Amino acid sequence: MSQSRTALVAAALLILGIGNGVPASAKTVLVTGSSQGHGLAFINDYAERGWTVIATTRTPSTATRLQTLAANFPNVTVEELDVTDFAEVDALADKYKDTPIDVLNLNGAINTFRVGRNTHGETDYPWLEQVLKTNIVGQLYVSEAFLEHIAASDQKTIAVMSAVGGLNNECSKRGSTVLPSQ
Ligand SMILES: NC(=O)c1ccc[n+]([C@@H]2O[C@H](COP(=O)([O-])OP(=O)(O)OC[C@H]3O[C@@H](n4cnc5c(N)ncnc54)[C@H](OP(=O)(O)O)[C@@H]3O)[C@@H](O)[C@H]2O)c1
Repeated sequence: MSQSRTALVAAALLILGIGNGVPASAKTVLVTGSSQGHGLAFINDYAERGWTVIATTRTPSTATRLQTLAANFPNVTVEELDVTDFAEVDALADKYKDTPIDVLNLNGAINTFRVGRNTHGETDYPWLEQVLKTNIVGQLYVSEAFLEHIAASDQKTIAVMSAVGGLNNECSKRGSTVLPSQ
C-alpha cells in the first residue's frame, strides 16, 4: 500500500472512531444499514477488531451476508432498524438503554448515485420525499434517540456518512476559482 493510501485509510478509520487508543474490547458501535456495501464492510472491520457490534438492518431475515458474518463473530448482534420508522428507533434505543455506545455509525441511507437521480423538470416527488426522510430526518432522529447512550460512553462519537455530492456548493466555489483560463 502506498504511503498516501495508508494515510487515507488511517484517517478514515480515525474518523470512524476505530483505533483511537481506547481498547477495542471495551467499545461498542451501532451501525445502521449493515446488510451490504459500506455498512457490511464496517461490521466486518469492527468485529475483527474486537468491538461489541450492534449491526442493524431493515430486514434481518434477508440479510444473509450479515447473518453469516454474525454467525462467525459472537461480538456481533443483528437488530432490525429502519431509520424512518420512529417507533422502531425508539424501541431499539429503549432495548439498549443501559448500553453506552461509543460510536453511532449513521451509514444507512438511500445512495442516490446507485438508485438513480432526477432530471430537473421530471422530479419524482414521492421518491425525493423518501430520500429526504431517510437521509436527513431519519439520521437526525436516530442521533437524538441514542444521544444518552453516546453521552454515557467513553468515545462519544457520531460518524455520519456523506459523499462528494454533499459538498457541491463547496466544489462549485472551488471550481469558480480554478478555471483553466485563470
Ligand atoms: N458507494 C459510494 O461510492 C459512496 C460514496 C460516498 C458516500 N456513500 C455513503 O455511504 C453510505 C453507504 O453507501 P453504500 O454504497 O454502502 O450504499 P448501499 O450499498 O446502497 O447500502 C445502503 C444501505 O442503506 C441502508 N438503508 C436504506 N434505507 C434505509 C432505511 N430507511 N433505514 C435504515 N437503513 C437504510 C440499507 O440497509 P439495509 O438494507 O441493511 O436495511 C443498505 O444496506 C450511504 O450513506 C452513502 O450515501 C457511498
